[in-house]
Amino acid sequence: MKYETQKIAYQYFVAATLLFGLQVIFGLITGAKYVWDYDPLINFIPFNTSRAIHMNLLVIWLLIGFMGGTYYLVPEEAETDIYSPRLAAIQLYCFVAIGVAAIIGYLAGWSWGMPFLEQPTVLKFGIVIVALIFLFNIFMTMMKTKKWTVIQGVLLGGLVMLALLFLFGVFFVRNLSTQYYWWWWVIHLWVEGAWELVAGAIIAFILLKLTGVDRELVEKWLYVEVGLVLFTGIAGTGHHYYWIGTPKYWFWVGGIFSALEPLPILFMVIDTLRDVREKRIEIENRIPLYWAVGSAVMHFLGAGVWGFAHTLPQINKWTHGTQVTASHGHFAFFGAYVMINLTMIYFAVPRIRGVSLKGHGRSLVALRLMVFSIFFMVLALGIAGVVQSYLQRILGMDYLTTQDYMKLWYAVMWVSGWGVVTGVFIYIVDFFSMGKPSKITA
Ligand code: HEM
Ligand code: HEM
Ligand SMILES: [Fe+2]
Repeated sequence: MKYETQKIAYQYFVAATLLFGLQVIFGLITGAKYVWDYDPLINFIPFNTSRAIHMNLLVIWLLIGFMGGTYYLVPEEAETDIYSPRLAAIQLYCFVAIGVAAIIGYLAGWSWGMPFLEQPTVLKFGIVIVALIFLFNIFMTMMKTKKWTVIQGVLLGGLVMLALLFLFGVFFVRNLSTQYYWWWWVIHLWVEGAWELVAGAIIAFILLKLTGVDRELVEKWLYVEVGLVLFTGIAGTGHHYYWIGTPKYWFWVGGIFSALEPLPILFMVIDTLRDVREKRIEIENRIPLYWAVGSAVMHFLGAGVWGFAHTLPQINKWTHGTQVTASHGHFAFFGAYVMINLTMIYFAVPRIRGVSLKGHGRSLVALRLMVFSIFFMVLALGIAGVVQSYLQRILGMDYLTTQDYMKLWYAVMWVSGWGVVTGVFIYIVDFFSMGKPSKITA
């Protein structure tokens, strides 16, 4: 750590880590409702509520993690302290307060309704204000020295795009189809556009610092990836326009461009592996490197392969909105954004605390357990989804009868879910004990 104010990132990482734990517990609660017919929580936390809390916590902690990562990264790139660490702290407390208010609201039935964007309008305005404070602080920091690097540019571009797109989810539209049309501008263009830019910049920064490869090389690839992500990702939005009343040409546009989306992600994997191999200097802290490579591979599988599997209209016609979608949603979010956040945390926290991760094997236990269990979870959901597509969509069986045939796979999902939760808790213990000698060596 070079600048004192980078320390503010630590508070962000603590908040992200704790909310991550809560998020996966709500995953288990939601999953249990699929496995058993009897639901003792039905009057307090029905399925829709626990699902909303599970998914909102995911987005909140990932965004908090990205913000923390940004506060750590920008001072080093811009070579100056953060413009206002106080503003950064206030912004974090406001964001957490809004998150808590949203979740208490869901428990009381106060919800906007659209998945991921359930926050009532007042809270959405609050989120917009938090985003503005954050962008202002980051921009002012960059302006202090005006040392523009490609990494900074891509990061800022991604963050601005992220904030602007959220506005499409703030206003209520009466027609449900139109509302869903704009909803995708937030959801799809976030995860397949803006967030990819943020993740790309973070991974480029970490690889640069860890491996000591040439900046020009990393930045050149970042350019190519960003260009391709935007090109395929923006037109790829069409893979959500098949069944919502939009014109027929979206079958072609959506099908072709979204089928190309795995390419930039594949380039990112190749690029990461190349950077890691480039200079075989002795890297003391290899843990973030393992997370980075793991993320690159899981990102490609979850978003690229699992996404491709149902992106053509001929297939999506049958699988749309089934558990195939949920399988891909878990895989992609975990591989791309959960793992990138944990990579940043394992990179930054030892530097902030001034400790070494040498022989820090507990982190790898968490990594392996999480990856292994998520993989089983998404396989189970995927099979459940294929059973559902066949019985419900092709044979025309009704929804609830179909669910009965999927129970076995829900059970496999739930048991694997416990594996994920255990991995997350090992990570949480590890987070708070970074720097203390660990019994498990790498
Ligand atoms: C990291 C990147 C990605 C993440 C986090 C992600 C996440 C998600 C999530 C959560 C959904 C479900 C939304 C909902 O209906 O509630 C979804 C839907 C979908 N995703 Fe992705 N995705 C990513 C990348 C991709 C890519 C690269 C492709 C194509 C190659 C793709 C193809 C699809 C398709 C076709 C759907 C719609 C499924 C349906 O019709 O039900 N995704 N994605
Ligand atoms: C880091 C880990 C996790 C991530 C990134 C994650 C992410 C997600 C996402 C993106 C969705 C929305 C899917 C969609 O609309 O297509 C979702 C829903 C869900 N998650 Fe998770 N989740 C995680 C852990 C868990 C765990 C441990 C369980 C426990 C079994 C679980 C169970 C569920 C269930 C049952 C749903 C509702 C699916 C449906 O609507 O049918 N999740 N999760
Ligand atoms: Fe999409």
